[in-house]
Amino acid sequence: MIYFNVLIEETGETFRCSPNESLLVGMERLGKKGIPVGCRGGGCGVCKVEITSGDYVKRVMSRDYVSVEDEAAGRVLACRVKPASDITLRVLGKMAKNVCRTSATQAVAAAA
Ligand code: FES
Repeated sequence: MIYFNVLIEETGETFRCSPNESLLVGMERLGKKGIPVGCRGGGCGVCKVEITSGDYVKRVMSRDYVSVEDEAAGRVLACRVKPASDITLRVLGKMAKNVCRTSATQAVAAAA
C-alpha cells in the first residue's frame, strides 16, 4: 500500500497516512492521548489543522468551522482530508493545545 509522510510542524513528529484514509486516522496512530477525535464527519471542528505544504483531497466541511478564507489558506478539518502527497501541517485550536502539551510532557519525562 502507498503511504505518505505527514509532518506535524510544532512537534517535529511524522506519521504515515495512506491516500485512502483521513489525516485524522493517520494521526490517531501516533497514539497520543490528547488528540481530540470528535464526530469524524466534518461537523464538530475539533480536528482543525492548517496544511502548509503538500497536496490533499478534501470532502465537504461545515462552514461553521471552515470559512471560505480558512479553506483557501489550507485550514481544514483533518477528518475530511486525505493526503495526495507528503504533507506538512500545523495543528490548530483545541488540537494544538492537546498535541503540544502531550509532547511537552513526554520531553520532560524523557529528560528526567
Ligand atoms: S472530528 Fe469532528 S470535524 Fe473532524
